Amino acid sequence: MEKYERIKKAVFPVAGLGTRFLPATKDIPKEMMPLIDRPLIHHGVDEAVASGCTEVVFVTGEGKESIRRYFEPSELLVSTLRERGKEALAAKVESIHELAKFSYAFQEKPLGLGHAVLCAEEFCGGEYFGLLLPDDVMVAEPPVLSQLEAVREKYGYSVLCLEEVDEKDVSRYGIVEAEEVEPGIYRVKALVEKPSPEEAPSRLAIMGRYLLSPKIFPHLKNLKRGAGGEYQLTDAISSLLREEPVYAVIYRGRRHDCGVKEGWIKATVARALEDPELRKIILDTVAEYEKI
Ligand code: UTP
Repeated sequence: MEKYERIKKAVFPVAGLGTRFLPATKDIPKEMMPLIDRPLIHHGVDEAVASGCTEVVFVTGEGKESIRRYFEPSELLVSTLRERGKEALAAKVESIHELAKFSYAFQEKPLGLGHAVLCAEEFCGGEYFGLLLPDDVMVAEPPVLSQLEAVREKYGYSVLCLEEVDEKDVSRYGIVEAEEVEPGIYRVKALVEKPSPEEAPSRLAIMGRYLLSPKIFPHLKNLKRGAGGEYQLTDAISSLLREEPVYAVIYRGRRHDCGVKEGWIKATVARALEDPELRKIILDTVAEYEKI
């Protein structure tokens, strides 16, 4: 039997417009919005690294230069911090560019997630890869990407990440029709992008973590524009299903949808409550403003 190779490569599409967060995202990429002390994209890269990835590609677009700058060495800042005796901060800043080997692909226009992933084909070099959407911040142990990897190790093939959502929310997600092969693990039969509650085959919604077979790329190349006039990754996965199996797993952990104000605020409060010092600030602030 061939030795099982864990994935080493992680793809982060970051070329979207972030319209749901305008005007904040007019000049700051959504992926650079901070959650406590680091941008959303840094949380995603931490998850990929904790799952064993050593190479990261960002699919960037116009106006996203700050993402590249963030992951590049910042010698001047580091030496200034050291001169001021702030060694711990200097080490923290310095460690960012050492997290992984970073590279960049360019998506000229945000034509959809399927199109963004296709832009990373060369980087993936024919291997299985992880795909992480940075606005879904996942809090989980083991990390969600590792949970998907455990399913691939057992069943092989691509693995999707699922959450059971309320019926009223199915139209916000890609939804799967699937057969449960063991508790929480499914073999996917079909996918529908943003169905109405009447059309939805289940309440099992696809979240922003994927383990994908390199065989996805020809299907991405053949894509036609789908829901919302965009090239949809779910359409390419539907097409891949005709060639080979696709599995899915209900992740264990918490997800914060930081691509919308409500989710981002909730994530900030939830993460702050986990930190003893920040917890006090949150509780004191709520107590103070509740009185007004
Ligand atoms: P979203 O659809 O959540 O992000 O895509 P968006 O399009 O930027 O945001 P809204 O819907 O306008 O508010 C999920 C991820 O895929 C990237 C986004 O940058 C985000 O990280 N993406 C999306 C691309 O890289 N290219 C695209 O064409 C679309």
